[in-house]
Amino acid sequence: MVAMQAEQQYNYQVVKWFAYMACVYLVVGTGIGVYIASELAWPVLNFDNPYISFGRLRPLHTNAVIFAFGGSTLMATAFYIVQRTCRTPLWSNKLAWFTFWGWNLVILSAVITLPLGYTQSKEYAELEWPIDILIAVVWLAYTFNFIMTISIRKVSHIYVANWFFIAMMVMITYLHVVNSLAIPVELFKSYSLFAGVQDAMIQWWWGHNAVGFFLTAGFLGIMYYFVPKQANRPVYSYRLSVIHFWALVFGYVWLGAHHLQYTALPDWTGSLGAAISLAMIIPSWGGAINGMFTLSGAWDKLRTDYILRFLIVSLAFYAMSTFEGPVMAAKTVNALSHYTDWTIGHVHSGALGWVAMVSIGALYHMVERMWGTTMYSIRLVNLHFWMATIGTAVYITAMWVSGIMQGLMWRAYDDYGNLAYTFVESVAQMHPYYAMRAVGGLIFFSGACIMLFNVTVTIRRAIAKPSAAMATAANI
Ligand code: HEM
Ligand code: HEM
Repeated sequence: MVAMQAEQQYNYQVVKWFAYMACVYLVVGTGIGVYIASELAWPVLNFDNPYISFGRLRPLHTNAVIFAFGGSTLMATAFYIVQRTCRTPLWSNKLAWFTFWGWNLVILSAVITLPLGYTQSKEYAELEWPIDILIAVVWLAYTFNFIMTISIRKVSHIYVANWFFIAMMVMITYLHVVNSLAIPVELFKSYSLFAGVQDAMIQWWWGHNAVGFFLTAGFLGIMYYFVPKQANRPVYSYRLSVIHFWALVFGYVWLGAHHLQYTALPDWTGSLGAAISLAMIIPSWGGAINGMFTLSGAWDKLRTDYILRFLIVSLAFYAMSTFEGPVMAAKTVNALSHYTDWTIGHVHSGALGWVAMVSIGALYHMVERMWGTTMYSIRLVNLHFWMATIGTAVYITAMWVSGIMQGLMWRAYDDYGNLAYTFVESVAQMHPYYAMRAVGGLIFFSGACIMLFNVTVTIRRAIAKPSAAMATAANI
């Protein structure tokens, strides 16, 4: 009864919009991904048009999937989880709406400025300085509202998922602000405050922590709420969740230099990055194991619960990519993998297999709860699951093969000590794998379209015929 009364006051309207937009942005971001993957396989698709050339669409893809899709998912889930675990509505509904419109304005600005060629040339931080300021303001509004909601909680405990979200919010504020420090010279042109090797170091300190905090800590927060909820089981070990939380937040910040092995950076920084990367297997697997073991004694649920399948498979990919990452950080392995498609394979086993899958599971779960209904078609959810899994597997297999082949071709010597292959020969060899990646991406993208269709029909039907369950879910 108490739970129901609290539920009646939750601010779901803004969460609903964030969740729906996340589904839309998944389609848009992966659609652009398929297009740029096709451009690499069939360069004629650049059409000699600068606005849609690979160089300009690539950052649009990364920004769309990471910040538009990933960001909207993180905002939807954080606002959903914090209300439910703290048994209180959001501290400020207005600030939440400000966050929604502000974030979408950032996304719109990216869609306009990136194809026009405005960029700071920093990876995952391409947007120019006025947009950077907007990002900082919106992100702070999000963070402040989240923390204030925790401060007015009706229960004494702060559930571990919220800790992961706070870590992400605090660290991303700090990283974004420092990495974006620049001297503006025009409205859309600025120069970084850092130069040379310092600039590279700051960039990859941000770059790796965008992975560690944006694409990992926040999504672990999602995992800690939605896996136990969907499985209807308590989290396997609460103690393990707290230990791996602290290990993760203290470890991740030291890794950036593993992106800069064999560069002008002092050698010891790369070695430190590699050593800490290796140690990161422990907290990463702590989280993956904790999530998977939450299903102990209830594995049979996987046969019928397709939403749970997304969540559990995401953990398998999380474990896999966090094993692969430390291996790639080792200097000898990095000497082969760096600059090759192996990195792209690693990125997408984390991005598609872990980030997208766990988000999809959480989004389906929230749609059912917030609209007080079940998915319009469970068969389509099942179809989506297989398309996402097969698409990811095809994508990453293609990239592993092409990446290792590239690396080996580039360093092969003939008997006279000359390079055995020209660069263009290696490019020609990549063609079948680039075509295969485009096909894998197309399968994944088609699954995302099916999800958007299924979610849209589910919501429209729920609105047309509101159920008793929907009436208890508040829409402030
Ligand atoms: C249909 C699905 C997708 C396709 C076909 C696709 C395709 C691509 C392509 C072709 C590239 C450029 C690779 C290169 O420069 O050689 C790329 C880069 C990237 N994508 Fe995707 N992508 C997809 C989904 C995603 C998702 C869901 C995420 C994140 C959640 C993501 C994150 C990234 C990142 C971070 C990079 C930059 C990698 C790097 O610089 O090493 N992608 N993607
Ligand atoms: C313990 C965990 C991890 C470690 C130690 C790690 C390590 C690495 C290493 C060594 C590279 C290649 C650097 C280079 O040669 O340039 C890399 C690239 C990358 N990883 Fe990971 N990784 C981990 C987990 C993840 C996860 C879970 C994701 C995705 C959600 C991810 C996303 C990326 C991205 C986007 C890049 C490409 C960066 C770029 O060059 O643009 N990593 N990682």
